[in-house]
Amino acid sequence: MGTPRAAEDVRDRPLGVAIHGAGWVASAHAASWRKCPQARIVSVSSRRVESARRLAELCGPECRVHERFEDVLEDDRVDVVNVSGPHHVHAEQGIAAAEAGKHLLMEKPMALTLEECRALRDAVARRGVKSVVSFVLRWNPLFETLRALLQQGAIGRLLHLEVDYWHEIGPWYTGWEWIRTRAIGRSAMLSAGCHAVDALRWFARDEVAEVAAFSSRGLGRYEYDPNVVAIVKFHGGATGKTSAAFDCEMPYAFNIDLLGAEGTLRDNRIWSRKLFPGQTGWAAVPTVLPDSGAVEHHPFDAEVRHLVECIREDRESHASIADAFRTHEVCLAIDRSAASGGAPVKLPLE
Ligand SMILES: NC(=O)c1ccc[n+]([C@@H]2O[C@H](COP(=O)([O-])OP(=O)(O)OC[C@H]3O[C@@H](n4cnc5c(N)ncnc54)[C@H](OP(=O)(O)O)[C@@H]3O)[C@@H](O)[C@H]2O)c1
Repeated sequence: MGTPRAAEDVRDRPLGVAIHGAGWVASAHAASWRKCPQARIVSVSSRRVESARRLAELCGPECRVHERFEDVLEDDRVDVVNVSGPHHVHAEQGIAAAEAGKHLLMEKPMALTLEECRALRDAVARRGVKSVVSFVLRWNPLFETLRALLQQGAIGRLLHLEVDYWHEIGPWYTGWEWIRTRAIGRSAMLSAGCHAVDALRWFARDEVAEVAAFSSRGLGRYEYDPNVVAIVKFHGGATGKTSAAFDCEMPYAFNIDLLGAEGTLRDNRIWSRKLFPGQTGWAAVPTVLPDSGAVEHHPFDAEVRHLVECIREDRESHASIADAFRTHEVCLAIDRSAASGGAPVKLPLE
């Protein structure tokens, strides 16, 4: 069992990063790690060694290809494991990495069941490693703008929130063979609706108390219901709605509506008589919208920099595995409700 390096031990040298799972998102992770001066990629591994070799060629001279995950975990040069394979291996690999004293950048979903989520959360807490779950939109410039406006009280107390993830995911996707299966993709909420659920929590700065959900078959290409809608109630009294739709004819859209007691935010548009007493129409903030599903468009540069800062400064991330546990719990509650035909489900889950 390895020991995580103390913050002072890694403050003055680049962190060694191992990418495990060499597919589409890993290519974007690798590009971001390459841009981070406080890190270097020292290992790439995957299920098939050819995939690892292909990515490793782009990762610099210090990068080795490991054939077995055990060898990655035994490699002393590795400080951070970047878990980027398909869903069903995340929890097991994350737990093994934490047990070996490695910090974690975990792709979402971090696990597929409540038991796995708990085991991963507890292993990370027990071993004291730092973690970031890749709810990468938290670093999107529109998200940063909305959070700052909310913080400044631009729309007052939140009354109602809606966030949707709509995106036709079909055979064009590199992970199509696994995402459409129940065994690996598992559910629309866990596969990518979790970005919308995480955004609800991130903007509400409150936790979900109860959900009720319905789902449908879409175009019939998935083993699970790929389109789902849920209503939610927050502890503080606000209401909300979230939905995920994959099996549809729809380019990527991530809708955000935040209704407050003194104004409203709709994506990058603001209505706030408090800020603009003479306002007669929506004011738009020019910024980068979360309007593309392409991984090259996602702000992984900022996400990896943030993880490095957390490790070097010995502090927990706002997007840690402990925080992401709550997002996953809401997704699992939505799945439970949808499976029962819409019965309300209270949180925390039993
Ligand atoms: N945060 C985001 O915005 C975002 C965006 C896209 C994807 N993701 C997430 O990232 C993960 C990967 O998605 P992707 O789009 O990159 O899928 P992908 O293109 O299918 O890549 C996954 C890769 O994992 C490898 N693999 C398969 N089984 C493995 C195992 N047991 N251990 C290690 N590697 C294994 C496969 O490579 P070989 O079989 O060739 O070795 C495959 O190429 C998923 O969890 C997905 O939800 C997140």
